[in-house]
Amino acid sequence: MLFGAFNVNNMEIIQAIVDAAGEEHSPVILQASSSAIKYARVGYLKKMVEAALEEHDILIALHLDHGPDFETCKMCVDNGFSSVMIDASKYDFEENVALTKQVVDYAHSKGVVVEAELGTLAGVEDEVNVAEDDARYTNPRQAKEFVERTGCDSLAIAIGTSHGAYKFKGEAKLRFDILEKVKELIPNTPIVLHGASTVIPELVELCNQYGGNIPGAKGVPDEILREASLRGVSKINVDTDLRLAMTGAIRKVLTEDPSVFDPRKYMTPARDLIKKTVQHKIRDVFGSSNMA
Ligand code: G3H
Ligand code: 13P
Ligand code: ZN
Repeated sequence: MLFGAFNVNNMEIIQAIVDAAGEEHSPVILQASSSAIKYARVGYLKKMVEAALEEHDILIALHLDHGPDFETCKMCVDNGFSSVMIDASKYDFEENVALTKQVVDYAHSKGVVVEAELGTLAGVEDEVNVAEDDARYTNPRQAKEFVERTGCDSLAIAIGTSHGAYKFKGEAKLRFDILEKVKELIPNTPIVLHGASTVIPELVELCNQYGGNIPGAKGVPDEILREASLRGVSKINVDTDLRLAMTGAIRKVLTEDPSVFDPRKYMTPARDLIKKTVQHKIRDVFGSSNMA
């Protein structure tokens, strides 16, 4: 089973995602980065997710994305998050093991599961800058040792994706050979794919058509994500596509009618387009829809 994990920053994004998942009867993971938590504030995020749970009869998890340190992970565990990610991938192997284990010990004592990361995604992660030429793929043997030593519940691996709108210079390609080896060595550990937005061309075009400047953006095509799913990836992270949908929709309204200044006039189409984008992923790419 593959779960879509969608990044949230505000009410409209949360509503769009859970409305899409609700219509598809699909479980869904809402995830907030530490900067999203700084922006929206943890109490608001919690209450909005509670409101979503009251409205929808589906499984909705609230997950910390790219937790940068123990304190942030602890704060989320203490605030009732379903799961946390500790991203110590910028540290060396031993430091990554030590910090991940510290988070696992605390989170497990409170019944919360932990995602960790091994290997570095090229590009920009949440407050983690990695030069492209430092990019390194996950080593499958290290992945096995890492999971055994930390007791983490799921593992994000680096097989060629990266965050943001510029993932590939040439052809989009992932190292499925590494994924295969990882699955062989740790078959019971759910594998997470970060940086998995498609960078949907129509959404990039919508932004650019209405004054945006996002030339040459490129992501992971749907067919490659379907293959990742078939090859055993369990969680696919999406943020950039939602950002593009929201921005494109807002740009369109404000460009077409510069007299608009009621936020609902542009936030409503923005929410609708995020919903459509999420629904497409759940139904046509991730296969987590439970609609007949
Ligand atoms: O992986 C990073 C996510 O897209 C979150 O980004 O730190 O800007 O919220 P953010
Ligand atoms: P994208 O930038 O490809 O949407 O990736 C999001 C992500 O990995 C969040 O953790
Ligand atoms: Zn990520």
